[in-house]
Amino acid sequence: MNHFLDIHKTDAADLRAIIDQARITKDARQGRPKAALDDEQPLKDRMVALIFEKPSTRTRVSFDVGVRQMGGQTMVLSGNDMQLGHGETIADTARVLSRYVDMIMIRTFDETVLTEMAEYASVPVINGLTDRTHPCQIMADVLTYEEHRGSIKGKKVVWCGDGNNVCASFIHAAGQFGFDLTFTGPAQLDPEEEFVGLARKAGSQIIIERDVNKAVEGADLVVADTWVSMHDSQSSKERRHNMLRSYQVNEALMAQAKPDALFMHCLPAHREEEVTSAVMDGPQSVIFDEAENRLHAQKAIMRYCLGS
Ligand code: CP
Ligand code: NVA
Repeated sequence: MNHFLDIHKTDAADLRAIIDQARITKDARQGRPKAALDDEQPLKDRMVALIFEKPSTRTRVSFDVGVRQMGGQTMVLSGNDMQLGHGETIADTARVLSRYVDMIMIRTFDETVLTEMAEYASVPVINGLTDRTHPCQIMADVLTYEEHRGSIKGKKVVWCGDGNNVCASFIHAAGQFGFDLTFTGPAQLDPEEEFVGLARKAGSQIIIERDVNKAVEGADLVVADTWVSMHDSQSSKERRHNMLRSYQVNEALMAQAKPDALFMHCLPAHREEEVTSAVMDGPQSVIFDEAENRLHAQKAIMRYCLGS
């Protein structure tokens, strides 16, 4: 069995195999009803716990649907309603859940909740987003890029805005899949140095460029995310908007990138804030393919976790 905790903690060959597997199962579902079961049922007779300590649309629905397509059943749990939110330790919760379910997906705040869950669980644990990273999202994004444009190796990805959890997993992916990443945003919101260092050590160019127009020159992929994440305090909203306003992705900015550049956003998006509707709904946007590919990428991640 394997946990799927982060992109930089997963072997590069395994990551590539997950993307390849996702394409195979996605192709095999072509033209079938969404609720149809897959031909192979690797989760038959298995129960998967989906724990959410933060809101979710895509992660919740895509994991739930994915498990069912693979023959399994899910139990969606809110952290607040569990004893987890009322003082029971993560270690004890992990040990107890492992007696009932075959796999755990958790979306939480503090990364140590995830790592402690993985340490004490005897079943695979999957990271469904923490304050620090969002690896399932970026596996879907790599799948999406490669479906549209071929191998992502050697490409230039530009991250605009806050160096947040989704940005961190993109930086991890740069190191593991061999692409370069330029971060453009205010210095106060730079990505974590530790993550930047890891990707550079793996041979990727990670550039910090404050000039947003210069940053997107020659980009193959431009990415944005919300300016206020779920773990950020609402009281910081105005300050963040003031810092980030000049990093909005709009048509004028996209015109600086390569003509065939793609635009991605993990969603949910705030239209006319981090990105304009003209870009979100425009010909370069692949945001809904990304959302769909959460399903296919995560099914392959769950297979990897089961070792099947
Ligand atoms: N992109 C993403 O993780 O969306 P949700 O918060 O809706 O799960
Ligand atoms: N950075 C965002 C991503 C949401 C999927 C957040 O953490 O709220």
